[in-house]
Amino acid sequence: MRFYLIGAGVIGKTHAEAIRKLRIEGVELCVADPNPSALAGFAELYPEARAFSSAEEMLAAPAADDDIVIVGTPPFTHCRLSRLALESGRHVLCEKPLVMNRAEAEELLAVAKAHDRLLGCCSVRFLGLPKMDEVKKLVQSGALGDIYKATFIYRGQRSRPGVEYQPESKWFLDRSKSGGGIVMDWGPYDFSVLNELLAPSSVEVAAAWTSKPQTQIDPTDTVYDVEGHVGAMLNYRLKDGKTVWVHYERASCTHGEAYHHVEIEGTLGAVRWSPYFESDEVVYTRDRNGEPESAITLAVNESEFGFMDHPVAFFYRKVKGETSQAVVNEQALFNFLCLQALYDCAETGKPQRIERGTRNVNVRI
Ligand SMILES: NC(=O)c1ccc[n+]([C@@H]2O[C@H](COP(=O)([O-])OP(=O)(O)OC[C@H]3O[C@@H](n4cnc5c(N)ncnc54)[C@H](O)[C@@H]3O)[C@@H](O)[C@H]2O)c1
Repeated sequence: MRFYLIGAGVIGKTHAEAIRKLRIEGVELCVADPNPSALAGFAELYPEARAFSSAEEMLAAPAADDDIVIVGTPPFTHCRLSRLALESGRHVLCEKPLVMNRAEAEELLAVAKAHDRLLGCCSVRFLGLPKMDEVKKLVQSGALGDIYKATFIYRGQRSRPGVEYQPESKWFLDRSKSGGGIVMDWGPYDFSVLNELLAPSSVEVAAAWTSKPQTQIDPTDTVYDVEGHVGAMLNYRLKDGKTVWVHYERASCTHGEAYHHVEIEGTLGAVRWSPYFESDEVVYTRDRNGEPESAITLAVNESEFGFMDHPVAFFYRKVKGETSQAVVNEQALFNFLCLQALYDCAETGKPQRIERGTRNVNVRI
């Protein structure tokens, strides 16, 4: 079994750690990065890896059927490098955001299909956690009644990648390299969670806006043209034909209050939780004799596989034909197109709809 990492930066190392945890007998690890200091830093931690200065050189050897390439480079390189890896006959697990735009997403899926390989996205990090499973159980059991609304709000005041977080990676701030700001950075996780729980057959972005709040430390020595705050009203059409309104908001920079609120509401009950770091509590509220009554479940992840290990662990199982929460091919494309639809709606002022298995279409109003 061979894993090939493209990119030896921050995230490349977390993938190497996850590969170690899989404890696969005889596993081989290769890594490619044109930056010698990134490769040297990687080699200190993972001396077992064979290092290459280019992905082309690393992938030139013939492929085995279960070879996995992990693309952990900035987004503007994802399409070219994933394509290269798929065309070399290997399965590809690509970092989030999957690509830069719709054209690249469709191109990559076509290449994966043509080569009969899996194309996965790392946006699955927060799936499969006990708290997600708990929420899923409530949603699928009918305990919430008819679900009609979801709220997904995460507002941070100063958490911009490239400024407050990982300031050495300035590419986050340049739309031509990152594809966008907070939508491209956290949107992939948000839509993986929402789409996993609601399993929509279509998503319509009915209204959306983006903004770039300013601070006195905004970088001026580098391109900085990505949004820091977005909002949208989304209409999820479920498989049974019912619709759920989703109130979505994300900020990595705002002068308003910092808070988060994630909740799904139905005619019989509601569930509130934090899909990410804040808490492992799942709060289920329903009516008891005319009064709201809440039950709190503490769903702590006790597995040795943490959320940062999930992309590699899930994708490995998928490649091996085992049950897995990996998000691949059409579903990976669908999840990515939700991000694109949000941008398109904000830019054009027109609703955008993503249908499962079809291209994005403008919705007539
Ligand atoms: N940093 C995080 O916490 C984090 C978390 C989750 C996902 N991600 C995602 O991981 C990806 C990479 O982010 P990062 O934080 O590791 O960036 P980084 O800047 O730390 O590392 C990127 C590495 O990619 C290398 N690279 C660039 N072009 C290359 C090429 N053609 N071939 C091989 N290597 C190349 C660079 O030299 C660099 O070492 C992004 O898509 C990001 O959204 C990052």
